[in-house]
Amino acid sequence: MEKLIQYDPKQGLFHLSNTRISYLFSIEEGGLLSHLYFGQKIKRYHNQMRYPRIDRGFSGNVLNHPDRGFSKDTLPQEYSGSDAGDYRVPSFVAQHANGSRSNAWTFKDYKISCGKPVLAGLPASYVEQESQSETLVVTLEDKVTGLEIDLLYSIFRDYDVIARSSCVRNLGESSVKLEKISSMQIDFVSQDFDVICLPGAHANERHISRQKIDYGTKRFESRRGTSSHQMNPFIALVDKGTDEHSGQAFGLNFVYSGNHLFEVEKDQLSQVRVLAGINDYNFEWELKPGAHFQTPEVLMAYSNEGLNYMSQTFHGLIRNHIVRGRFKYEDRPILVNNWEATYFDFNEEKLKPIVDEAKELGMEMFVLDDGWFGKRDNDQSSLGDWQIYKKKFPNGLEKFADYVHQKGLKFGLWFEPEMISMDSNLYRNYPSYLMSSPNRQPSSSRSQFVLDMCNKEVVNAIYHQLKNILDKGYVDYIKWDMNRHLTDIYSPTLPPSRQGEVSHRYILGVYELLEKIINDYPNILFEGCSGGGGRFDTGWTYYMPQSWASDNTDAVARLTIQEGTSLAYPISSITSHVSAVPNHQTGRECSLEARGHVAMSGVLGYELDLTKMTANEKILVKEQVNGYKSVRHLVQYGTFYRLKSVLESNESAWLFVSENKEEALLMTANILSYAQPILTKTKLVGLNPDADYELMPLLSDRESDHSVGYFSSIYAHKPIAIGEVFSGSELMNIGIYNPIARQDFNTQMYYFKAKKQEDLNNEIQES
Ligand code: GLA
Repeated sequence: MEKLIQYDPKQGLFHLSNTRISYLFSIEEGGLLSHLYFGQKIKRYHNQMRYPRIDRGFSGNVLNHPDRGFSKDTLPQEYSGSDAGDYRVPSFVAQHANGSRSNAWTFKDYKISCGKPVLAGLPASYVEQESQSETLVVTLEDKVTGLEIDLLYSIFRDYDVIARSSCVRNLGESSVKLEKISSMQIDFVSQDFDVICLPGAHANERHISRQKIDYGTKRFESRRGTSSHQMNPFIALVDKGTDEHSGQAFGLNFVYSGNHLFEVEKDQLSQVRVLAGINDYNFEWELKPGAHFQTPEVLMAYSNEGLNYMSQTFHGLIRNHIVRGRFKYEDRPILVNNWEATYFDFNEEKLKPIVDEAKELGMEMFVLDDGWFGKRDNDQSSLGDWQIYKKKFPNGLEKFADYVHQKGLKFGLWFEPEMISMDSNLYRNYPSYLMSSPNRQPSSSRSQFVLDMCNKEVVNAIYHQLKNILDKGYVDYIKWDMNRHLTDIYSPTLPPSRQGEVSHRYILGVYELLEKIINDYPNILFEGCSGGGGRFDTGWTYYMPQSWASDNTDAVARLTIQEGTSLAYPISSITSHVSAVPNHQTGRECSLEARGHVAMSGVLGYELDLTKMTANEKILVKEQVNGYKSVRHLVQYGTFYRLKSVLESNESAWLFVSENKEEALLMTANILSYAQPILTKTKLVGLNPDADYELMPLLSDRESDHSVGYFSSIYAHKPIAIGEVFSGSELMNIGIYNPIARQDFNTQMYYFKAKKQEDLNNEIQES
């Protein structure tokens, strides 16, 4: 098997490569590490790409080095120090006992090994067999300060990804205050890049934003204690011309759920430095002599085939090397959740008919959302009291769960374990568990407060409360919510000088709790949630294979949210529900077909009062559920392509292709309808050009149900019909016309199946 990492001592050159990508860096004079290249595979490297030595005024030189052209301020580096000659944004800042913040790294040692190390207490990518990756650890030292830092690089054999993190050790005699420690740095020699990020808001998450990288430093960050709705921990650097199908893309995906920071600086020479790691905002960490600090990991993906390939790389990597446990490859159940059906206003009697209906319609799980515990009738109370609310479940929750199970459905339950209400027994008994700054009223958000998860006692108390319920064995799924962000960052468990550690320790406490719970209950499926998609990050998928993408369930809004989410996260992780109209978030009315098609393009669920649907609606929902079951594996685990974006046009198109290219599912959406519509086509990709594909029935054609004014059908033109056969090359090069509908928010779902050779032979014979 080919080696993935080579070191050439003559050239002082490290070369990480698999069959498609290469990453190169070298040891330069004075032991500086210089970044050389990240991109398509280099077969044989002749050392011609060393950075040119040019004297740049006001860019100082390395001490005792005769060449004025050799400056830390211009050299593309692997990992920068601070206040030691490089004026660009630093990777690392620490204050030493003598007050200095100067840090200069030089090469000390390296080690290459098979496999990939575990990062204690942190989520990270992992391998099942050692041969799936190799790891290089390069140690840099600063003899003056006594600090050493390990730069960890793991390259995957089958994915175009390098995982990077860093780990600093204090070998000196005094404590050091860490103020910033990036997980990775990459310096590009002048390139005209755009940067893509995923900003948003509650109920409006992960909208793709593409910006030119210009002079100065851009920061993409969260200061909210969590990965946040507002800025997702993912960015990509792309060439100007990069689109979904062609061009270079460098994707950076941070495996962390706390405060994150991506910095992109274009410097005096138009060079671009990119850093990613824990946010330095409100961060300080005391590193005692002998102690170390390990950063979370960043996954760096390279694509020379546009954004789709970059996304597919992340999808595969997350599915295979981040998600753990038995649900990793399992088809996810179709659920009904009672939140939008009842909000807090429910009891056992009101829920049972929804369960009955879910069973009738072929659904597989009932999820009981917020309001089943303490004395919770609204969002003002009871967080922290994880005991059954007797008024709503006089016979106990177990009895109700039995009812659900007897119907043949699984039973899911909502929790918000990191939170506390002031109106709760937990607060009355343990007020110090609520995170707050001394002498200050903590600020409230949704009338609730955050637990001090730095405090082991708190983590333990919540663990035991959850265990009391989960040990009964009736819970098959947990929706783990977080409905506010952190403020009043303070923990009495730490001395005043170490309060800068609280935000990171909070998330470490949450990870510790999760690790225990998922190990204790390997058969429970977890779904992440934070006011919808406020904690949709790769770190979270290490514990929870799927997450609620947004509290916004409107099908049109979801086109943008799910598209943005798919840039970095696999479809198997994106949950999407059909809800009632008018939509509770936007007031929009979309047809049940459109709501179904968009939700079926993720992990399908329903979130409405099933008992209130008309007989015709129930027939359609039953078809959606059955149809979804037949393509579920293709949707959740197939190769996903974004073909058209609503951000750029009136249309959206998504495609799912099976690994063997025998099946393809296409979802198209037309947002507004026009009296004189422009004809548009959708061209498929990734099919077998030589195969013949038949359009198969998935959902019945209901156009006759509709009439618009003078016309008997909503369709002025519906180009293709079930049973028609197209060659792969035809679908990819000519494409299919999109229908012309007299209806806004019109969507279509096409299921193509390759014809088997025997069928083709039979047809030829018959004709
Ligand atoms: C959050 C979730 C919703 C629901 C409510 C319950 O907003 O995103 O789906 O669970 O909390 O309070």
